[in-house]
Amino acid sequence: LHEPRERRADSDARRLDVPSERGSYPVVIGHGAVEALPARLAERGLTGAVVAVSCPPVWRLHGARLRGVLKRAPPILIPDGERAKALGTIARIYDALTARRLDRSAVVVALGGGVVGDVAGFAAATYLRGLRLVQVPTSLVAQIDSAIGGKVGVNLPTGKNLVGAFHAPALVVCDPALMRSLPRREFRAGLYEAIKYGVIASRPLFDRLHDEHAAILRQQPETVLAIVTECCEIKAAIVGRDEREAGPRRALNFGHTIGHALEAATGYRRLRHGEAVAYGMIAAARLSAARGLLTAEDEQRIRAVVRHLGPLPAIGDLQIGTLLDAVSRDKKTIAGRLHFVLAAGIGKTTEATDVSRSELRQALRAIGVVRA
Ligand SMILES: NC(=O)c1ccc[n+]([C@@H]2O[C@H](COP(=O)([O-])OP(=O)(O)OC[C@H]3O[C@@H](n4cnc5c(N)ncnc54)[C@H](O)[C@@H]3O)[C@@H](O)[C@H]2O)c1
Ligand SMILES: [Zn+2]
Repeated sequence: LHEPRERRADSDARRLDVPSERGSYPVVIGHGAVEALPARLAERGLTGAVVAVSCPPVWRLHGARLRGVLKRAPPILIPDGERAKALGTIARIYDALTARRLDRSAVVVALGGGVVGDVAGFAAATYLRGLRLVQVPTSLVAQIDSAIGGKVGVNLPTGKNLVGAFHAPALVVCDPALMRSLPRREFRAGLYEAIKYGVIASRPLFDRLHDEHAAILRQQPETVLAIVTECCEIKAAIVGRDEREAGPRRALNFGHTIGHALEAATGYRRLRHGEAVAYGMIAAARLSAARGLLTAEDEQRIRAVVRHLGPLPAIGDLQIGTLLDAVSRDKKTIAGRLHFVLAAGIGKTTEATDVSRSELRQALRAIGVVRA
């Protein structure tokens, strides 16, 4: 997966190659990596007209960094936030693309968080049956998760991510320097996903998040770069083995079954996705420990690493029944059976299809949901 370091504008950048159905694609990670975007596009043969898709706050802060590839072409800006992840936004992007008379050699560059990446990616996957896509993620969630792996899509009023496609990017450029402007809460929300990678795949990463939480919360550049790199390596390795989520990729759903239920039960307003996953991981750790898969000590360590990052929004008012209903509607149900990802120690997972309502109830109590 790893290649030697290269000498160029992003000379210290790390490059991962992610295998994909239509050839592998590079993920370039480094402070300042976005400055070398023109050279990276050329190297990938991405020579068509470049169209940037972004949202106003990110564009204001970082749009100028794309000047080298955009020349003077204005960006397509979509509204900020999860509500923009909808079919109406896709229709507006199609209109803007049509107005520019683009052909299939055009390249869509998504500059923003996961919302921009998923929306721009879905428009790119479908316009003219597919334009090439470059992801320049600017949030921690996007850098370590959504920009890699090719899943793109939008929400329907009835549920999250219900419409989408697999559309692998042609290039991903992760520049942690872009995150200096990221609101603190967004950064923390991303850190919970980093913890997830530690729990599912890497004890050393987990221990680092546990031991170095102070430097991480200060966004010490070297520490942040190391964590982004390790997380990208894990995600790249998993999706490289299982692009369409037939098996190993499902481990990435650790903490997400209960996490999604919490997001749905709170109307997607109270909790950032990562915060919901933080609760979901604590609940999943309880379930794993109750089944003897995780030691009491490691369960405590998972609770501790989450707690170190600061308080989570309260969920004590939610009802067990509402959450159990939401869990049973989970999209990850396969042939009517809930697939629940459990921690088998720290750094490894296993799946269970026989998790009972009483086990779920116990797990919910562990995160303070006690109302019947
Ligand atoms: N496709 C996938 O595989 C995948 C994986 C994980 C998450 N997602 C999706 O990603 C979305 C969540 O992504 P997110 O957490 O990045 O949310 P987001 O895109 O809404 O970004 C969060 C906020 O941070 C702001 N922001 C982003 N980068 C910034 C920067 N550098 N400086 C200042 N502000 C910045 C955004 O404008 C926004 O207000 C969800 O819709 C989720 O479903 C997709
Ligand atoms: Zn997630």
